[in-house]
Amino acid sequence: MKRFILTSLIVFLTCGSLTLGTMLLAADGGGEATFHSLHCNICHKPDRRSAGPALSEIGKAYNGQQELLVQYLQGQAKPLIDLGKEQVMKGQLEKTKEISAAERGELAGYILSFGGK
Ligand code: HEC
Repeated sequence: MKRFILTSLIVFLTCGSLTLGTMLLAADGGGEATFHSLHCNICHKPDRRSAGPALSEIGKAYNGQQELLVQYLQGQAKPLIDLGKEQVMKGQLEKTKEISAAERGELAGYILSFGGK
């Protein structure tokens, strides 16, 4: 009986920490992780323009229109902010076309979260 309780306890604790780990990963924001792993952060800073427009600028331009931003990231919509540098993003869009639809959605959500709403 003691062994049974001990085993149950171990199983319970293992499952618990696994669940917690997954929750923490999710809370960490898949979109942010993708943004960094694709090196988008090199040209896009949260609040100031660098090589590319600031995330806040993009977030405001799209103003919560996640579907439109996803289309842009799929290479299926024209850019909203025209700095005359559309070509710079062309190569980048090859990367965002390759990720999964779920990842693209999260990435768009992450960018939109800078829109100040
Ligand atoms: C080499 C620098 C560079 C990198 C790296 C880069 N971008 Fe950009 N990005 C730009 C520039 C420049 C613009 C402005 C384009 C324009 O004027 O059409 C832009 C514009 C954008 C826009 C706004 C498009 C619009 O509707 O006007 C989004 C969204 C965006 N980038 C997302 C990303 C994502 C996601 C990544 C990573 C996969 C990324 N960028 C990587 C330079 C970069």
